[in-house]
This record gives sequence, structure tokens and C-alpha cells, in this order.
Amino acid sequence: MIFIKGKVVIITGAASGIGRKTAKLFAERNAKLIINDINEENINQLKEELLNEGATVKAICGDVSNSNVVKGIMKTAIDTYGEINILCNNAGVWWPNQDSNVENLEEDVWDKILSINLKSVFLCTKYAIPHMKEGKGGSIINISSMAALRGWINMDAYTASKGGIISLTKSLAAEYGSYGIRVNAICPGSIKTPLTEKIQLKTGYPKNPLGRVGYPEDIGKLILFLASSDSDFITGGVFPVDGGRSIRQ
Ligand SMILES: NC(=O)c1ccc[n+]([C@@H]2O[C@H](COP(=O)([O-])OP(=O)(O)OC[C@H]3O[C@@H](n4cnc5c(N)ncnc54)[C@H](O)[C@@H]3O)[C@@H](O)[C@H]2O)c1
Repeated sequence: MIFIKGKVVIITGAASGIGRKTAKLFAERNAKLIINDINEENINQLKEELLNEGATVKAICGDVSNSNVVKGIMKTAIDTYGEINILCNNAGVWWPNQDSNVENLEEDVWDKILSINLKSVFLCTKYAIPHMKEGKGGSIINISSMAALRGWINMDAYTASKGGIISLTKSLAAEYGSYGIRVNAICPGSIKTPLTEKIQLKTGYPKNPLGRVGYPEDIGKLILFLASSDSDFITGGVFPVDGGRSIRQ
């Protein structure tokens, strides 16, 4: 089993889908969790569930594109646990009804998607890194998307936000490697979560060489590995987890 016991982990967008499953996997391995989400009811429900299962967890409700919320998350982690070891920048939105090609994309929709998906990664990383530098390093795992590797028609704000995450991941890995801070990005393919379910139940999941849909644990297991010392020579990596979809047209 991957060794993660006692590590302090922050997961954004943890109330649903990939983030929720990831929180469960870390809790099962006795990590100390800070879980965040903008959905107050769902994040508090997850917190209660985890506490009942014996986990060490605090929940913080708020929008991670807001710097005051992000500062609050880091302060709570330090006040509660004294350090920050792992940051999983997972919160994100996919708005197929509002996103579009550049000609038809409203400026405020572009701003909102870029803010929630990309600025949040900048902010969380900005305010976590000083604490990781003070400690013995850390691991940051950013959730990008297969859409950033392939492009995706009529989804220009989403693809740009997720592409930005990949570039930022590489710069951060180069900048902070000497402090023992590793930064990697994961590019999920079609994963069965509330984010994708409604649309993909109608259209079917895109085909991939492995012939099955992805599940949140497919991403969560890689997050665990990248968070642990088992991956301590890996930084600046960009990992598709998509059943091979990104190499098949
Ligand atoms: N599901 C997929 O097929 C897929 C594919 C590629 C990438 N992703 C990425 O994986 C991540 C998780 O997606 P998911 O499928 O689990 O989605 P989801 O909708 O099930 O969960 C995302 C969570 O993020 C929260 N959130 C949204 N905006 C927030 C904000 N501003 N601040 C804090 N929390 C916020 C939501 O309330 C929700 O609980 C996202 O970044 C998404 O873009 C998902």
C-alpha cells in the first residue's frame, strides 16, 4: 500500500466526483485532510462521513478562485496540523452549454472558467508553497484534462484553462524542485462523475482502446502515487489517464 500516513493533504473541489473519491483514498491511508468545495452542503456531508469513518479532517467551504478563501484554507491547515505536504488542485468546472468557440464565447464566461479552473491553481500553489518550502518539500498534483492534449471543439475556454495548468505545472516543477517540491499534472479522459454524467448518458462515453469508461478511483490512485515518496523522482510530468483515448483519433 502506498505510504501516506500522517501527511497533510489539501484537496480542492472535494465534495464530488474525482475529489471526493481522492479524499476517501487519502483518509483510508490515515492522511490528515483539509477538504474544500464551493458546495457547502456536500462538503459538510463528506466531512461527517469521513469523521464517522475515523478520519482526521477539516472542511472549508469556499470558492478557490478567491484569494481570501485560499489564504483561509492554508491558515486552517497550518493552525490545525502545523504543515502542508500535499496539495491536489482538483476544483474545476466544465460548462458545455456556455463554453463555445471563440467567436461565440461570451467574455464573462471565458473570465469565469479561466478563473475557476486556472487562477485557482495559481492561488492555491502561491499560498501553499511558502509552507512547503519551510517544511521538507511537498507534492502538488494539478488536475488538467485530456481536452488540453487534444483540443476540443466548442470548448475553447475549458481547453485553454486546462492547457494553462500543464504549462504552469512545468514552470513550477522547474522553479521549486530544489526545495524538494514536486509538481505534476494529470489529464483525465472521460471519467464517470456528476460533471460529465448527464451529457454522456445521452451521447455515450467516447471510445478508447481499453474499451471502458473511467472512474474517479482511476484518477485517485495516480494522485496517491504522485503524492507519495514512491514517485520521488517524478516532477513536471503530464499523465493522461484516459484508457488511451488521447492517442486514438
Ligand atoms: N470527469 C471527467 O471526465 C473529467 C475529465 C477531465 C478533467 N476533469 C477535471 O477533474 C476535476 C474534477 O472533476 P469531476 O468530474 O470530479 O467534477 P465534479 O463536478 O464531480 O466535481 C468538481 C467539484 O468542484 C467543485 N467546485 C467547482 N467550482 C469550485 C470553486 N470555484 N471552488 C471550489 N470548488 C469548486 C464543485 O462544487 C464540485 O464538487 C475538474 O478539474 C475537471 O475539470 C474531469
